[in-house]
Amino acid sequence: MNKPYQPPREERDPIEEVFKECEECTRIVYNDQGFFAPKLRNLNYLSIGRSRMASNPFTIALELLYRFYIFIRNVVTSIWQTVAPKNMDAPVAEGIVDSHLIGQLVFAGKEDENSPIHHMKVVFWARTWLFQWVKLAEGVTDRDGTFKLAFSLRRARGWFIFSRRFETYQTNYRYSENGVKRYHYDLFHTQSVPGSDLVGMTYNLRTIRLFFWEYDTTTTVPRVVIKNHDKDAPQYYAQGRTDAINQQVIPVELTKLKHIEQIATDPSSLTIQKIQDDYPTNLTACMEKKSPGITRGDEWFGLRMMNGMNAATFVQDPKNPSHYWTKLYGACNYDINDEYAFPTVEIKFELDDRGIMMPKDMYLTGPLTAYESDPWKREKVTWEDGEKWLQAKRVARVTGALSAELDDHFTSTHLVTEQYAIAGYRNLRLSPIAALLFPHLKEVVLVNHSANSILVGPADPPAPLSPIRDGGIILWIEDQIAAFFNKIAFETGSYIPLATAITHEGINQRTRDLLGVQDWKGWQPMEPLSSRHKFPRAQRTFWNMLGEYLDAFFEENLEQIKEHWYEVYCFSQDLVKHSVPVYLSDTDLASLPQKDRELAEQRLQWYQHRYSLSLNIDRDTVDGELKVLSPITHSKEFNPEDLDNLKEACRHIIMIATFMHSFVNEHQYDDIGEVLYSSLGLRFGDGPDGIMAPESDTRISPDLTRSTQMMWFSNLLSRTEYGFIERNEEGDINPLLIKMLNERKEEIEKNGMLIANIESRTNI
Ligand SMILES: [Fe+2]
Repeated sequence: MNKPYQPPREERDPIEEVFKECEECTRIVYNDQGFFAPKLRNLNYLSIGRSRMASNPFTIALELLYRFYIFIRNVVTSIWQTVAPKNMDAPVAEGIVDSHLIGQLVFAGKEDENSPIHHMKVVFWARTWLFQWVKLAEGVTDRDGTFKLAFSLRRARGWFIFSRRFETYQTNYRYSENGVKRYHYDLFHTQSVPGSDLVGMTYNLRTIRLFFWEYDTTTTVPRVVIKNHDKDAPQYYAQGRTDAINQQVIPVELTKLKHIEQIATDPSSLTIQKIQDDYPTNLTACMEKKSPGITRGDEWFGLRMMNGMNAATFVQDPKNPSHYWTKLYGACNYDINDEYAFPTVEIKFELDDRGIMMPKDMYLTGPLTAYESDPWKREKVTWEDGEKWLQAKRVARVTGALSAELDDHFTSTHLVTEQYAIAGYRNLRLSPIAALLFPHLKEVVLVNHSANSILVGPADPPAPLSPIRDGGIILWIEDQIAAFFNKIAFETGSYIPLATAITHEGINQRTRDLLGVQDWKGWQPMEPLSSRHKFPRAQRTFWNMLGEYLDAFFEENLEQIKEHWYEVYCFSQDLVKHSVPVYLSDTDLASLPQKDRELAEQRLQWYQHRYSLSLNIDRDTVDGELKVLSPITHSKEFNPEDLDNLKEACRHIIMIATFMHSFVNEHQYDDIGEVLYSSLGLRFGDGPDGIMAPESDTRISPDLTRSTQMMWFSNLLSRTEYGFIERNEEGDINPLLIKMLNERKEEIEKNGMLIANIESRTNI
C-alpha cells in the first residue's frame, strides 16, 4: 500500500461528502422485483463483476425459470383455494348436537413431557366428496390442555362426508385494512378421525403429544428443536420471505461457486481484488475509489466506531473527561485455533470539538504473531506510530467485526430474540400480548437454525432429496432447491469457525456468557456523546416511540391483558426457567488464576455498561442457577404491580428484534464488505511481525476461499432482508406502529437509518 493516509485533523467536510455520496449509491434497498430488477441493475454499473453476472446466460436462464415457476405455483395455489376453500371464520355446521370429541394436548418434549398446552385452537372438520370443508366443531383447550368439542353425529357421519379431521392451530393475528385486529390461524397438527368409531356420546382422542416449540435439551442456551427446516419445524417462513431469498441468492451463490471452481483449477488466476470486483461495491470500497486512503484515516475509524456495525460503547476516563475508552474483547479464555489471531483491543479516544471520537492510543492484548504464546502480552500503539498505527487500526477493526458479528449480531439480537420467541409461542395465544409480539418474533428460530450450518456451527449433513410429497411437483421443486443449497452449505462448512480464531466450541461458550449479561429489565439505549454520534440518536428516537406505542397499546387492551394474565405468567415461567445464568454467577472466581479473575471481573464491569445490566435486582434461582432474565410476574392471576414489568419486557423485545437487529444486519455490508479493510479474522502468517503487517501482505489476510465466502455472506445477509415494518407484507403489523414510525421519519433518517429499512422481525 502507498504511504498511509492521515488527513489533517481539522478536515471535516470532505469525509462527510464522500460518505454521503457513497452511502447513497451503495445502500441496499429492497424492491419487489428481486435481485435483477431495474433498480438493482443500475447498481450493477458500479461493479464490473456484477455486470458479468447479470449478463451470464446461465444466470439469466435460471432466473427466468425461477420466475416462471413462481407464476405457475401462484396460479395453482389460487385455483385450489377457490375450488376448495377452508374458511376458518365459517360457522359451525347446523345440526342436533349429540356427541363430543374430547382429549388433551400436551407437550412431547423431553423435559416438559405431559405439560399441558393451554388455549390452543382446535377444530373438528369434515370433508365432502366434492372436496368442500365443513366445520363440525371448534374451541380452545383449557388451562389443563383438555378440550371437549360438541358436534352433530348425523353431520359427521352423513353419506356426503368423505373424511374427518381433528386439527390444532397456532394462533396469530392480522389487521384488516381499517386497522381492526383479527385472528389468523396456522395449521400445526392434523389427524384423521375414522367415521366408523363415531358411535356414542363421546369419542376420546386421549392424550395427544405435540412436538410443539420444544426446547432443545442438548444446547447450553435456549434453542428450539427443528428436525427439518422445511417439513418438521414449529414454524415456516412466509412464502414471500422464501421467494425473496431464493431470488436474491442465485447471483451471489453463482459468483461464489465460480471463485471456488477457479481456486480448485487455477488459483493463480484469482486475487482478493478480483474477488472483490466480482461482488457489488460496498461503502468503503466506493469511498476508497473516490478518495484513496480516506477509510484508513483516524476520522473514519472514529466515526465508524461511533456509528458503524460496532456501534461501540464509550466509557469516560475518570481522570480526563475528554477521553473515552472502548473495549473490544478478543479470544479471552475461549476455545481457539492457532491459525488466526484474536487479540483484545482497548482504545483510548479523545472527543474533539467536531464531535468525532479520535483514536489516540491502543492496547493490543494477546499473541500477534505465530511465535508468541503469551495470551497476556500487551502492546501499546499510538496515533503517532505511522505505519504501525495503520496496522493496529486494521487489527482493531477485525476484532471489532468479529465481536460485532458474534456478540452483538448473533447473540444480542438473534439468540436474545429466539428465547423470547420460544416462550412466547409456547404460551401466548388469547392474550393481546401475542398480537403485540408475534409479528416481531416470527421466523427468528428458522434463521438461527440456518446460522448453525452457515455461520457458527458444525454443518448438519444435507437433508436427503425427498420424493414427491403430498403437495406434488411444486413442493418437490422447492425440496430440490433447498437440498441444493443445504449440500453447498455442508461442503463449505460454517464460516466463523473456518475463517476466525474461535472454534465451534468457543462460540458455544462465548454466546452463553454474552446471553448471561442481557436482561430486559433496566435495558436502555445509549447516550449520544456528540452531534456526530448518530446511532444513539436514531436508537433513542425509536426507543421513545416504542414507549409511546406500548402505552397506547396497553391502554387499549388492558381488560384482555388482565383476563388472560395466566398466559403472561406461563410466558414468564418459561423465560426464566430456560434462561442462562448471570455471567460469572456459576464461576468460583476465587479458584481462578489472578489474571483470569481480573479479566473476568473487568468484562463483567464492561458488559454492565454495554448492555445496561444491573446486578442489584432480584432475580430467580432455578435448579441452583441465578437466571439472568428477570421474572415478569410470579402471579397466575392479574397483579397490577407487574404490569410495568410486562410493558418494559415487551418494549425491549420489540426493540431488539426490529431496530437493533436491522442496524447491525444492514451495516455488515458497509463494514465487512471489503476484504482488506476489515474481515472477521487475520491469520498469523509466517512473518516476524504477524498481523502487524500491511494490507498488501496476503499471508495474514483471509485466503481466497475465505475472501469469497466473506463477500458471499455479507452480501447474502444484507441483501436478502424481507419483512419490514413500513411495508407490512403479511398485514400483521399494528397500523399504529407504522403511523408512529412514519411520523419520526425525518428524525430517524437524519441520523443515518432509513425507516423503510427497519425490519419488523429478525429473519436473516
Ligand atoms: Fe441477522
